[in-house]
Amino acid sequence: MSKRRFLITAALPYSNGRLHVGHIAGAYLPADTYSRYLRASGNEVRFICGSDDNGVAALRTARQQGRDVEELTAHFNQSQQTDFLGLGIKFDIYGGTHQPDFVVNHEKFSQEFFLKIHDKGMFTKKSGKQLFDVQAEQFLPDRFVRGTCPHCGSDKAFGDQCEGCGRALDQISLINPISVLTESTPELRETIHWFLRLDQLQPKLTAWLAEKKDGQTDGATWRAIVINQSLGRIEADGLPERAMTRDLTWGVPVPLDDPDAEGKSLYVWFDAPIGYVSFTAAMCEKAGESESDYERWWKDPDCKIVHFIGEDNIVFHAITWPAMILATHDSDSIQGERGEYQMPHNVVSNSFMNIKFPGKEEEKISKSRGNAVWIEDFLKRFDPDPLRYYLTAVAPESSRTAFDIDDFVTRNNGELVNALGNFYNRTMTFTHKYFEGKVPAVGDRDDVDNAQIALCQSSMESVGKLLDACQFKAAMSEVMALARAGNVYFDQTKPFLSRKTDMVACGRAINVCLQTCRALTTLIAPFLPSTAEKCAEMLHLDDTYSEWSFANCQMSDGQALGEAVILFKKLDAAELFSE
Ligand code: 2FM
Ligand code: ZN
Repeated sequence: MSKRRFLITAALPYSNGRLHVGHIAGAYLPADTYSRYLRASGNEVRFICGSDDNGVAALRTARQQGRDVEELTAHFNQSQQTDFLGLGIKFDIYGGTHQPDFVVNHEKFSQEFFLKIHDKGMFTKKSGKQLFDVQAEQFLPDRFVRGTCPHCGSDKAFGDQCEGCGRALDQISLINPISVLTESTPELRETIHWFLRLDQLQPKLTAWLAEKKDGQTDGATWRAIVINQSLGRIEADGLPERAMTRDLTWGVPVPLDDPDAEGKSLYVWFDAPIGYVSFTAAMCEKAGESESDYERWWKDPDCKIVHFIGEDNIVFHAITWPAMILATHDSDSIQGERGEYQMPHNVVSNSFMNIKFPGKEEEKISKSRGNAVWIEDFLKRFDPDPLRYYLTAVAPESSRTAFDIDDFVTRNNGELVNALGNFYNRTMTFTHKYFEGKVPAVGDRDDVDNAQIALCQSSMESVGKLLDACQFKAAMSEVMALARAGNVYFDQTKPFLSRKTDMVACGRAINVCLQTCRALTTLIAPFLPSTAEKCAEMLHLDDTYSEWSFANCQMSDGQALGEAVILFKKLDAAELFSE
């Protein structure tokens, strides 16, 4: 495949709490696996993330905890970065929309974006009714108000979105609204805001989404959940204008010389996706390039922009954000001409992940119920790769799945320890014991040997195709099939017997096993990067071991190997969650 340029983003996490396994399974792990694979295939790739600091989420938590909002967001920006690092999720830049090193640049980008849309006449300035907390003397944007969802009746609805059915809400439609600041019933008051003219953009957006309906567009495979949810939303409700400003001072100030704009900020869902852009510019600057080099990633049709998100972000990334981009275009082209912001190449979303503790029912992960597996806690006791493995194996790619503690342990022991780890270990220890730690001669391969070598080649191709299509679960299962085939080959060719009668045949079999280990080292690298590193050390491979096309490089006769190390440990569920 020819080399291409990709900008990969993972949803900016709110910096008001710690990360749990559900967050990682939703967006960050698949995005990291994809970025690693694209790089390994020789593409030019940048992987962007950072914290979503503005808006009501952080402000609310800061108030609840009696903390300063800047201190709170700085704290969680750091703790989330530590979690990502511990899991081997490796960004090219980790910014933060209100972090000291990023905030000035981020405000500049967000305000310019807003002004461009404003100048194009794509906002309507109008007065409307908003909920106002009389005791707190302030309007109640977004999560400052809760109530009952008018669509599904859930009492976990907020001013922006319902936690029950996931729909975006207009706070006015909430039944029995309550201020989360004072627990009082707010009243309706007039206030002025700037509304994005989504109704005007609807035909273009619908055409753009409809084009992706059948899956493949320009080499991108769109998931049904993304298309169905977005087109479904348009069909059900149309696209009414939506306010892109808020009565709030924590955020990006509305950049208009207009007394009506005073004390108002951009809606957090307006500035957050622009964070992807402003962090890209910061990355360019850090790399010694000029800040305007971000245009190579954002305004060039040759660069493919792929957003990884969780289910609750679909509408914002497949409708609102593309609408914002379209609203900045001077040209009529939907994708955007060179020099204009480009529409996403793909928006890859997973569903939610539930949790199941031993002996309990499967349930939603919830901070308030305290039933999450926190990354920080996990990493204090365990290696990252078994978690990466499990979260990919049960990834909620097409529907909701559960992090089942018993299943995690079973798969670790049965698949990582018994299949993958065992194959490397038996091959390595055998080579050290009977071939002085050197690759035995390739000899004259028979059909069984050739079939195993051919399987390495075909696995590299099929895993690559699946990864290109963002089918991470299926891709990893193909990798594991190769490891299992390695074990079957070992059992069939029986080097443990032939070593007593026919050292040439024995060496031939071990050679094939080592070639299989070589291929596996590359193929596991996007999924299990720290394990791949250990494997590369064992096989004495140089830094190019993760390059996809090198998966089939043959280990040469007589090549000396490193020490055999144990790749995975057996776990038990009790050990995992005892205090
Ligand atoms: O749902 C969330 O966690 C949001 N903070 C995601 C924002 S993604 C982007 F637009 F920045
Ligand atoms: Zn609802």
